[in-house]
Amino acid sequence: MKGVILAGGTGSRLEPLTKYINKHLLPIGAYPMIYWPILKLRECGIHEILIITNTDHLSSFIQLLGDGEGLNVSLQYKIQKNTGGGIADALMSAKKFVGQDKYVVILGDNIFEDSLKPYVDSYNKQKNGARVLLKEVTDPSRYGVTKIDQTKKKIMSIVEKPNNPPSNYCVTGIYMYDQTAFELIQEIKPSYRKELEITDLNNLYIKRDQLEYDILHGWWIDAGTHESLFRANTLIYNRILEGAPEKLL
Ligand code: DAU
Repeated sequence: MKGVILAGGTGSRLEPLTKYINKHLLPIGAYPMIYWPILKLRECGIHEILIITNTDHLSSFIQLLGDGEGLNVSLQYKIQKNTGGGIADALMSAKKFVGQDKYVVILGDNIFEDSLKPYVDSYNKQKNGARVLLKEVTDPSRYGVTKIDQTKKKIMSIVEKPNNPPSNYCVTGIYMYDQTAFELIQEIKPSYRKELEITDLNNLYIKRDQLEYDILHGWWIDAGTHESLFRANTLIYNRILEGAPEKLL
């Protein structure tokens, strides 16, 4: 399986930190943010990784990571032409890279405590369709939120940043897809925030009865705001204080 990390977008919620620096190059613990999703994919045995970013920041990523050898992975890069065009728009740039394989997409600002390996293994065994990972949160309105039937283990629908969330279970920034995703993205129209939403793609998989899920139990952070970036740093340092090896590479 291959991995795709989305590291574009405008990072507007982290201004002025992101006025000149790409969000995914800001520090979390001793490393730039982008290291964490790379290490998460590597932990799943995924070594072939595509990083999708903006024209303005591509050279910084190459300077930092090169071909990935230093992290024991093989990195390629692609540019999202339509900066800030949405997560589903960015994903289109991965079509050629993934070829016919199933693949794992991770949002570059998502930091996970859990190993993602058991879930990726389940997806490998899944016959077709897509798989997402959910997390119970206290502030669902910030995310894509599921209406869920836990007895049938089914997601009925997902709403992006709802005012009245249908549950406290949100969709985290890890998505496992097959080739169908690229066809389905063609059906999506830009949302109220003028983006091709990943939630719309996932809802199309639901319509086909092809979206499976697991629930995460460890902490998870979308480090896209000042407060959550600070919290991510606190959690990572706490892990170090609890005795996790400081050197993770
Ligand atoms: O973190 C999980 C949430 O991520 C989900 O629950 C939501 O359903 C999903 O829409 C997304 O919401 P955000 O509003 O947090 O997405 P954000 O705009 O912060 O983008 C997430 C990542 O995707 C970020 O690391 C940059 C990348 N991105 C984003 C956009 C809009 C791109 O590469 N290109 C883009 O055009």
